[in-house]
Amino acid sequence: MNRTLTMDMPDTRRRLDDMAQGVVGKPLNRPEGPLKVSGLATYAHEHPLDGMVHGVLVRAPAVKGTLKKIDPKALDQLEGVLGVFSDERFLRNAAQGGAGKAPVQGVSKIEYVGQPVALVVAETFEQARHAGQNVILSIEAQTAPVEPEAGDVQVEMQDRRGVDQGDLDRAMQEAAVTVDQVYRTAGHHAAAMEPHCSIASWDGDVLTLRGSYQMLNFNVDELADSLGIEPEKVHMLSPYVGGGFGSKLGISPEGVAAAIASRELGRPVCVEMTRQQIFESILRRSESRQRIRLAANEDGTLIGLGHESLVSNLPGERFAEPVPQSTHFLYRGENRRLSLGIARNHRPPAGSVRAPGEAVGMPTLENAMDELAEQLGMDPVELRKKNIPDRHPEKGIPFSSRKYAECLDEGARRFGWENRNKTPSGLREGEWLIGHGMAGASRINMLGKASARVTLNPDGTATVESDMTDLGTGTYAVLTQVCGEMLGLPVSKVATRLGDSDLPHGPGSGGSRGASSSGSAVFLACEDIRIKLCERLGCQEEELTLKDGEAISGNRRVALTDVLAGKPIVGEGTIQPGNTLSETLQAGYGAYFCEVAVNRFTGETRVRRMLGVYAAGRILNEKTARSQCLGGMVWGIGMALTEGLVHDPRDGHIVNRDFAEYHLPVNADVPQLDVVLLDERDDAASPLQSKGIGELGFSGSAGAILNAIYNATGIRVREYPATLDRLLAGEGILG
Ligand code: MOS
Repeated sequence: MNRTLTMDMPDTRRRLDDMAQGVVGKPLNRPEGPLKVSGLATYAHEHPLDGMVHGVLVRAPAVKGTLKKIDPKALDQLEGVLGVFSDERFLRNAAQGGAGKAPVQGVSKIEYVGQPVALVVAETFEQARHAGQNVILSIEAQTAPVEPEAGDVQVEMQDRRGVDQGDLDRAMQEAAVTVDQVYRTAGHHAAAMEPHCSIASWDGDVLTLRGSYQMLNFNVDELADSLGIEPEKVHMLSPYVGGGFGSKLGISPEGVAAAIASRELGRPVCVEMTRQQIFESILRRSESRQRIRLAANEDGTLIGLGHESLVSNLPGERFAEPVPQSTHFLYRGENRRLSLGIARNHRPPAGSVRAPGEAVGMPTLENAMDELAEQLGMDPVELRKKNIPDRHPEKGIPFSSRKYAECLDEGARRFGWENRNKTPSGLREGEWLIGHGMAGASRINMLGKASARVTLNPDGTATVESDMTDLGTGTYAVLTQVCGEMLGLPVSKVATRLGDSDLPHGPGSGGSRGASSSGSAVFLACEDIRIKLCERLGCQEEELTLKDGEAISGNRRVALTDVLAGKPIVGEGTIQPGNTLSETLQAGYGAYFCEVAVNRFTGETRVRRMLGVYAAGRILNEKTARSQCLGGMVWGIGMALTEGLVHDPRDGHIVNRDFAEYHLPVNADVPQLDVVLLDERDDAASPLQSKGIGELGFSGSAGAILNAIYNATGIRVREYPATLDRLLAGEGILG
């Protein structure tokens, strides 16, 4: 009944290439797009249930301590207030992505400024917010370390993220040319457009939670774990999600608080977080300190590579931004030392934010490569091509597919790299210094266990069902296309239902694995249907052509509606990761090229043009894939120039906790961006031959911009973002 494939072997059949409908890969518009732009798509906050009341979370103002008492008396006189709830089951730290559990942490123990400690519920949001500002907390406060690089901070090494191979120190001594630099990157905020919001309601002992979440399959378990109830009693709905970028991977405080208050009040409770609360209590990306060492022969061949990083997190949190993730395999160098340490401190908890690891580890590696190329007097593109290893330089395993060199070459050709400015600070236009820079892109590929159900209906339409989410990434479109392709239906005949935890479990959206994983489950479910069709038609699956609602086999051509004869066919498929993930190194690759102009008096940097060339296996939808890459480059502009969390050195609280102070790129900051997607098939990745693309689009992009700034000004900024003050402080010609 359920067609299951474990990826223990490459799937070399490439069945999608045999199909006749011709919709996979095409730039299909999002089927749900009209609902979104017309306001008919219902996001988490848009379910006004009968009798619904509103809750607002109360934050801890201390970096560490114990909450002794909540004094609700001050609220007695306030209109509409229904209660103040605080329960040890409330979440102190949001669950990490894919945790599947969220055990009781105890909110009376305060671990960071902004930690939610209570929920005030009132008839209206305004009443609850006002009351929340009047709650009196009695706290026994303590001090706690908040600076990750302070001398007395405890550092825990993450041995599974490190490698020590050969003798890097010796390679550095013997090499003809070396780079040994420290880079720093600021913490980031996911900044999803839709705020976190949950509406909880109970029917007996069954909880329904309408929320904005990325991974329902895991979120149901997390919510059940927090509440101490069975997962079967939890029903979650997230049909539309207004961006996630990692911030909605795990169940977060508002969901648990809404569920608890709703149960006690016997009414639906809506808890929407303010932007400031999201900044303060939803997992941030850690800042990082990275020492990078490169040792090369005169011809540019790397003989040594070091990438030693420090990130931070709260005590007890397991997540550590995996900074060197792609450094392990991207370049040669037999002598290697890569390490990752977590500084334990009391800044707000850190977790996954867009492309955890590569987001901050790739730009710096690519900055160091730029420094090496300059010392060698080599074209940075050539230096990278020269150092592409034949096999994984640490594990010795082969690469499943890799078009890194092709991305570099195609990018250089399209950008006109040979005509770039070759002398730092040598190209001027009035008061603007013009520079060109490039960087490589790399991001590991993942596959998650995923199931899907497809129904071929008697009227010749099909329905795809999964608890997968669509964060604006294109899941609805891609799953519709895979189904249409496999069953020979125009996409208008396929309806996709997502974001309901009662549907077959997908992997959720995270780690750029959603399209490949859930798309493979749909592919398998459709194969299941094709086999069942063949049983009725008396033919072999390989001989069956399905196109435009007709089944063709040999000389026979039958309408699907006739084959079905009033009875639907249901297909189910499950994909799971297998040996190909450990036997081959799977990753997507790319290359960025950009031109910047830096004002020689103010240090203001404008990105003038930027190109990204990517190879990520089969592209399932040219339009949504391209959009992911555009978004990735916009993230790169933000990381390079303006984005960075600022923590108060006294108590670690996030100072710039809104969009007025945390500067995302706006339209005026983003030039016309160009995206090129190369054709590729990765048989080891999935039966679709596709790899993740969303996070790839960002990984490394900020590095190209800082390399271009150097080319424009002669100033190496080694601390992200390259703000005006950092540029003006650099030795050189600015100011
Ligand atoms: Mo992504 S940071 O795995 O949502």
